[in-house]
Amino acid sequence: MKRCKALLWVLHLLIRFLPVWTLRLQNLTLSSSRLNVGDTLISPSGHFELGIFPYPAESGRYYLCVRYAAPIQQVAVWVANREIPLSQQSYLELSSPNGNLQLSDPDNNVAQIPWSSNTADAGVGRAQLLDTGNLVLVDNDGNPIWDSFKNSSITDTLLPGQYFYKIGNINLTSWLTKDDPATGNGTYTFGWGTRANMSGSILQLAWTSPKVFSVWRGGTYIPGPDDTNPHIIPDVDYVYFDATQGNLYFPSTPANIVIISGGDLVSSTTLKRLTLDADGGLRIWQFTVGTSKTWTAEANWVVTERHSQCFTIGTCGPFSLCNMSPFGSLDRVQCTCPYGFKPINPDDLSRGCTPIERLSGSDLCNASKVNLTVLNDIDMPWGGDYRNLTGAESANCQAECLKDCKCAGAVYSKNEQRCWMKMTPLYNLGYPTVTLHGSDRTAFIKISLYQPPSPESDQGKFKLWMIALVVVGGLLGLGLLVACCVYYRRENHITGPGGEPLHPPWRG
Ligand SMILES: *[C@@H]1O[C@H](CO)[C@@H](O)[C@H](O)[C@H]1NC(C)=O
Ligand SMILES: *[C@@H]1O[C@H](CO)[C@@H](O)[C@H](O)[C@H]1NC(C)=O
Ligand SMILES: *[C@@H]1O[C@H](CO)[C@@H](O)[C@H](O)[C@H]1NC(C)=O
Ligand SMILES: *[C@@H]1O[C@H](CO)[C@@H](O)[C@H](O)[C@H]1NC(C)=O
Ligand SMILES: *[C@@H]1O[C@H](CO)[C@@H](O)[C@H](O)[C@H]1NC(C)=O
Ligand SMILES: *[C@@H]1O[C@H](CO)[C@@H](O)[C@H](O)[C@H]1NC(C)=O
Ligand SMILES: *[C@@H]1O[C@H](CO)[C@@H](O)[C@H](O)[C@H]1NC(C)=O
Ligand SMILES: *[C@@H]1O[C@H](CO)[C@@H](O)[C@H](O)[C@H]1NC(C)=O
Repeated sequence: MKRCKALLWVLHLLIRFLPVWTLRLQNLTLSSSRLNVGDTLISPSGHFELGIFPYPAESGRYYLCVRYAAPIQQVAVWVANREIPLSQQSYLELSSPNGNLQLSDPDNNVAQIPWSSNTADAGVGRAQLLDTGNLVLVDNDGNPIWDSFKNSSITDTLLPGQYFYKIGNINLTSWLTKDDPATGNGTYTFGWGTRANMSGSILQLAWTSPKVFSVWRGGTYIPGPDDTNPHIIPDVDYVYFDATQGNLYFPSTPANIVIISGGDLVSSTTLKRLTLDADGGLRIWQFTVGTSKTWTAEANWVVTERHSQCFTIGTCGPFSLCNMSPFGSLDRVQCTCPYGFKPINPDDLSRGCTPIERLSGSDLCNASKVNLTVLNDIDMPWGGDYRNLTGAESANCQAECLKDCKCAGAVYSKNEQRCWMKMTPLYNLGYPTVTLHGSDRTAFIKISLYQPPSPESDQGKFKLWMIALVVVGGLLGLGLLVACCVYYRRENHITGPGGEPLHPPWRG
């Protein structure tokens, strides 16, 4: 009997800790099985894998991705369902007989297909992941019909050998954050843009289009929203990430023009990717199989400049104060919310801030409803300007903003006696302008006159409650322990219902 229980215990442990049986496929064919969460389609070299993976890990939010496979640091290079996360029950299949590669998520609306290759009845016979990282759908003779390099709408990454076409005005689009592949407000785009009054196209890096952040100009790039004098590139239909050099090129005669280059030559062990990162940096990343632990950035076209990431629009999200600590360092951004605002996501302060008390409509210019938060030595250098006043006093800058419903905030310059009035949303609050402007600039941000009691006092209350809980909990625990001891001494032989000692088998 004892032995039997021990066996059951071992079995239980095995079932709990043995990995779930997963598939590692090389081809996904019409008749073959589904790709469930945990299954992968791998490239022949094993460098890439296609699967349904969670981002962030353990989040329960799953995405169909092509990513580098371990031991390479597992970075996603292509995500099919960027907007719609899937559940753990989701699966990928090459539907039979029509040959559409499609995702299904039984936990959500089954009728709604989160993503599909739209290749129904195009003759697809097989899906394969190539060594280049390209996911291809081919017919039974191996002729390509669809591939993730050319036919998928938006990505944030180019791989060696990948062309980036102007057709359909496709953009590289960054992830919203390092953990969230979503696109939309708050992301960067890299691609072709146009300007009113100008013919031809411009290769540009923009933030939540159409806000242009930097413009490529033959061999170098121009930081800042240089709308006045952009480089108009001749009408090329593509740029490409060279398979050998690993440079981003722009085709030209007599020689192709390098847009971004960096790092070593691409080889079977030196891997490169070009990614438009969530912070707006368009970077060439490199990883050497067998040597590297993580990907390292070899070159970039970054929107950071003047030694401050806070200059980059959107680093801290809307209505957020950006600060570098220590000043001048490139990787220590601190985002905080000004008085009257709270974080959109307390776990990720770079997502920005939102008013604690929201005002709308005519309340935005009702003198008995609005007030201004005053931020000394702070500028808001980018965007949102709709009006400026010259010969202004600080007081009348504030008064004008308060009574204008459109005004979300204003910047005042003492030296220029100028007031720039800005619309919502406000970005780049706190770009450290002291070095540029001394204490010339003051920012005003419109808030509700009514402000609820500050969260600090709530925190104080919370702490008191915690202390009370711990004390009471501790006393209860102690009481229980004493009661148990007394009981144990009285019963000194304890048995279970079947007469078996209630001990784990390793002690029996
Ligand atoms: C996958 O398809 C390719 C091309 O037909 C073939 O060379 C390869 O052997 C297939 N792999 C497997 C595991 O069936
Ligand atoms: C994929 O892209 C290529 C090149 O742009 C195009 O010729 C082909 O028709 C596309 N395939 C599908 C299924 O859209
Ligand atoms: C994006 O921003 C615009 C303008 O600020 C706003 O109108 C729109 O609702 C936003 N979209 C989303 C999805 O947040
Ligand atoms: C277009 O160009 C003309 C002449 O250069 C200029 O006067 C006008 O302001 C420009 N319009 C716009 C919308 O930029
Ligand atoms: C690509 O980005 C530019 C801004 O840089 C924008 O004007 C254009 O509409 C975007 N195209 C697509 C397809 O999103
Ligand atoms: C401003 O707000 C007050 C208080 O709610 C209200 O009585 C008044 O009618 C409002 N004024 C306007 C112009 O909306
Ligand atoms: C308006 O905001 C300022 C801080 O910017 C504050 O000192 C002042 O007390 C506020 N006014 C009212 C009436 O709450
Ligand atoms: C102020 O506004 C005028 C238009 O009203 C504009 O032409 C000018 O460039 C603005 N000046 C600054 C410094 O923003």
